[in-house]
Amino acid sequence: MRDRWFRLRRYLTSHGLCATCRRAAVVVGRRFFRRRVVILGAELNDMPPPPDLHDGLSVTCVESESQLRQEDRAVLLEKRGAEIMAPLIQRRFGYGADLWLLKRNDTVVGMLWSLPRETWRPHVFPLTPRDILLLDAEVFPEFRGQGMNPLLTRHVLHGVKNKGYTRAYIHVAIWNTPQLRSLRKTPFRRLGAASQWVLPGRNVVVWNEMLGQMPAQGQSGDDHGPGSLSPNDTA
Ligand SMILES: CC(C)(COP(=O)(O)OP(=O)(O)OC[C@H]1O[C@@H](n2cnc3c(N)ncnc32)[C@H](O)[C@@H]1OP(=O)(O)O)[C@@H](O)C(=O)NCCC(=O)NCCS
Repeated sequence: MRDRWFRLRRYLTSHGLCATCRRAAVVVGRRFFRRRVVILGAELNDMPPPPDLHDGLSVTCVESESQLRQEDRAVLLEKRGAEIMAPLIQRRFGYGADLWLLKRNDTVVGMLWSLPRETWRPHVFPLTPRDILLLDAEVFPEFRGQGMNPLLTRHVLHGVKNKGYTRAYIHVAIWNTPQLRSLRKTPFRRLGAASQWVLPGRNVVVWNEMLGQMPAQGQSGDDHGPGSLSPNDTA
């Protein structure tokens, strides 16, 4: 609630009342569909290597809050709002997440988090210790539409593979066309769409669409067996 209030205040100050009302209508529409997500998965052992980085681009993996450089932290707080971002950074690193930064000439242009499965529960289906979740992709507005997100995502998939993970997942809200289009340029493949409710003691998932076979419970990360993602499914 506090986060939302801060966001509203920031938006109102920088965009004015009319734009804020239009934005509010979009947010209400999105909230209506907030439980509907597209689930995508990537088999990390079958991936081609990520493209080389040119034009001053680099990807950095930050594994703890103390590793986050002050200048990078300042950019994240400025772009997303300190009130939201400071506690989020603390919480995510506390959960064992890694923060992947895409930089151009040493300035952050985008980011993506990876979260080990122990800290994301419940999930829409059971995960293995070798599964990892990617979340909260963001490319700052001035750099959008230039293929930055697919580039970062492909490097992150390569990075988590090097850390020993064999499969990655990402959830995307059904209305998020830019992200769904962007992920088509990565090894992620659409597995289906589902709605999820977390009730006391219960995780209720209603599948609206199921394209590939879902992984079976208890499969090891090395052998996903019949749960393997079909290479023909596209995001
Ligand atoms: C989703 C997002 C990360 C994509 O990043 P990106 O680097 O712009 O990705 P791409 O360059 O692959 O562009 C993806 C799509 O964005 C749209 N796009 C193109 N130019 C754009 C621009 N200037 N501004 C916004 N979107 C644009 C297009 O639909 C494009 O698809 P196309 O290449 O098939 O035409 C970025 O739009 C973003 O940060 N959005 C806000 C946060 C968000 O929704 N994150 C996803 C959470 S799961």
